[in-house]
Amino acid sequence: MKISVIGTGYVGLVTGTCLAETGNEVVCVDVDAQKVEKMRKGEVPIYEPHLDVLFERNIKSERLTFTTSLKEGLMHGEIIFLALPTPADEDGSADLSYVLGVADQIGGLISQYKVIVDKSTVPVGTADKVKETIAMKAACDFDVVSNPEFLREGFAVNDFLKPERIIVGSSSKRAIGLMKRLYNPFVRSGNPILIMDEKSAELTKYAANSFLATKITFMNEIANYCEKVGADVDKVRIGMGTDSRIGKRFLFPGIGYGGSCFPKDVKALLNSGKKEEYNFKILDAVIRVNEHQKKILIPKIKTFFNNDIKGKTLAVWGLSFKPETDDIREAPSLDVIEELLSLGARIKAYDPEAMDNVSKKYGDKIELVNSMYDAIENSDALIICTEWSLFRTPDFNKIKSEVREKVIFDGRNLYNIKDIEKEEISYFSIGRNDVI
Ligand code: UGA
Repeated sequence: MKISVIGTGYVGLVTGTCLAETGNEVVCVDVDAQKVEKMRKGEVPIYEPHLDVLFERNIKSERLTFTTSLKEGLMHGEIIFLALPTPADEDGSADLSYVLGVADQIGGLISQYKVIVDKSTVPVGTADKVKETIAMKAACDFDVVSNPEFLREGFAVNDFLKPERIIVGSSSKRAIGLMKRLYNPFVRSGNPILIMDEKSAELTKYAANSFLATKITFMNEIANYCEKVGADVDKVRIGMGTDSRIGKRFLFPGIGYGGSCFPKDVKALLNSGKKEEYNFKILDAVIRVNEHQKKILIPKIKTFFNNDIKGKTLAVWGLSFKPETDDIREAPSLDVIEELLSLGARIKAYDPEAMDNVSKKYGDKIELVNSMYDAIENSDALIICTEWSLFRTPDFNKIKSEVREKVIFDGRNLYNIKDIEKEEISYFSIGRNDVI
């Protein structure tokens, strides 16, 4: 099929590349001419495991091409994906100016039937607004479909190629038929393509992300309580998770959720509710608890150093909001670092992928080093903010010889308490019996 994708951010790129991989002819449109030039040469503008291989293969076979011309993109595709940014407004609501701006141009540019697909995470009612905007200028038939994405950064290619479900929000038989044809190759395993109305599809995305953020946050509160009563959150987590109604996934406590999705989507749903005079009290609590959780290691660090952090050199392992990404948006590591800097600490940090992004943000306010062991050299303590696999089996002897106070503050519960006990290292984690 002929497909166009408007916007080559994270979602647009993965969507375009994976649709080309199943034999479709895909044209990706972006206003950034420099970016388009680089992509034409095969350069992937984001870090996402496995995307580079698919990207190169489909560019070579000319199934994946790029242009800055919206008109060209609209002429090409019978299905047009809108994968445009929906940043948070000052009040936390999703800003629809990019989506509606492009919708406004689409009306004047299409001359035959098109399916316009909202792939961006957009508030309930946006498909209707997009439809109205296009209809003002369109001289031909078209349909607008809501098709939210459920890609996790770091696993996006696999999530796209093997989705647990695909949500198609549409009331048009013609559009539903085309969407099913496009997505059938991805659900051969029997996973469903769920057809529903546009509004329910739009809300499904916010509800799913907000539920997952709530699940993590609930577990973080249980972890904090475990510390008060001497219980072990690892045991509680397994005890709870084996109940299939609860499930084992997304129950891992830590220093809070981050990224470009959960924080933005929880706030956006809360604000959409307020506009309808509905107060999502639970989401309000989730946001407040998560903000607190991001700094949950700070009192432990302060107590250990008798409130004297000034001049201490603190090593930080892990800066991205989660492993397998270079994304630092809303990363808990940033809250930890900023708090420690304000207390007068010196930070030496390492991350396998996010160093460039962190360097742009902090300049020389923190020292970025080339390896996890360079970070601990001549340090007073080690703080772990992201659970990269690399950090799971460190050389504890090196830690003992380099980290002056022989102490680890672990925000992601990487180590087994029993193993750490043998190492004679002071160890502070989340919701477990710390080794002091
Ligand atoms: C999330 C959803 O998982 C995707 O389904 C969705 O498509 C995507 O948002 C989106 O809206 O685009 P993502 O933000 O890439 O994906 O990351 P997750 O793997 O969901 O992790 C989010 C945060 O939760 C991370 O900071 C992670 O460290 C934290 N987390 C996750 C926990 O603290 N504990 C857990 O048990 C799981």
